[in-house]
Amino acid sequence: MDTLDTVLPLLRCPATGAALMRQAGALVNKEGTQYPIIEDIAQLLTPTKSVKEEEARQRMQRFYETFTFPGYDGIDDPSVLSEKAKRSGFGLWLDQAIPPLATVVEVGCGTGQMTNFLGLVSTRTVLGVDMSIASLTLGNRFATQHRLTNVHFLQGNIFALPIREECADVLICSGVLHHTPDPQGGYRELLKRVKPGGYIVIGLYNTYARIPLGLRKMLFHVTGKALRKVDYHMRRRDVDARKKEIWFADQYRNPHESWHSVDEVLRWFDETHVKFMSGVPAIAQDVPEEKDGQKKLFMPHPRATPIGHILHQLSWMFSIGREGGLFVLVGQKPLLQEKS
Ligand SMILES: C[S@@+](CC[C@H](N)C(=O)[O-])C[C@H]1O[C@@H](n2cnc3c(N)ncnc32)[C@H](O)[C@@H]1O
Repeated sequence: MDTLDTVLPLLRCPATGAALMRQAGALVNKEGTQYPIIEDIAQLLTPTKSVKEEEARQRMQRFYETFTFPGYDGIDDPSVLSEKAKRSGFGLWLDQAIPPLATVVEVGCGTGQMTNFLGLVSTRTVLGVDMSIASLTLGNRFATQHRLTNVHFLQGNIFALPIREECADVLICSGVLHHTPDPQGGYRELLKRVKPGGYIVIGLYNTYARIPLGLRKMLFHVTGKALRKVDYHMRRRDVDARKKEIWFADQYRNPHESWHSVDEVLRWFDETHVKFMSGVPAIAQDVPEEKDGQKKLFMPHPRATPIGHILHQLSWMFSIGREGGLFVLVGQKPLLQEKS
């Protein structure tokens, strides 16, 4: 039995939702549809239902097959990966919040740095799903080299997920939904995969924090490559040229992106009876348990008023704005599923 067999009960046929069986180099549904496993990655990608949305998805897939994000350069060891994830704060807090026996699913995992980092706790089961084979291959190479046998990478589409409903204790999707034509529809698909009482972690471009980047984008549109160093990342000395190239393409040349506000995502939560837990950056005050900059992501935090949220988000232009203006909200699915 190889390690993919251990997670077979968590996988589903993306077309029918039925269970899958293992057959030589493929996963097969009971009608005989085969999904090949190539270099350990089960290729379970099926199209989005609407033709227009599928065209957009394919454009995005071509982009991320070329620009594998985030870059792996220099990350050749679990300790380096760990250092990087912890430096961001968010990675550290997420790792601290997720229990050791959790099933974690990261959708739109890209090159799987977060997936692999969370999989360094060997008692967790961690699945990384993305549509870009080039990105998944990089993630899988790292997992194989470092014998992270509890980490598995799958090719799949958010809008036809090859994952069983209600199987994830924690589902993470950061930096992804804003590259799809239907972010809220994508959120609802993701939520179906979360266990009752489990957590959903959503990272999106923020409407306010991304304003400076939007202005720079207009500038680069007019001036081409000449003024690229206006972007802080393009001036960094600790980042190599390929990684800078990937960052620039992802931020300024992406075929599609949308921007979202805190209140919009809170509305998604409310409409699906998901309880708001926390935000990174914070959307109101910290809770007393949070001392010395520690964040308790799975602990309920207060919301501010809509005006308070706008004021917080305006201030993000000067903090996370430099890093692309991505904010994260964490929610908890109710234990008893109410109709939404
Ligand atoms: C900006 S990268 C984010 C990668 C990673 N989550 C991170 O934060 O570093 C966006 C990723 O979303 C993936 N993606 C976009 N649309 C998708 C879809 N419909 N199904 C699966 N993956 C998708 C892309 O292939 C890409 O790897």
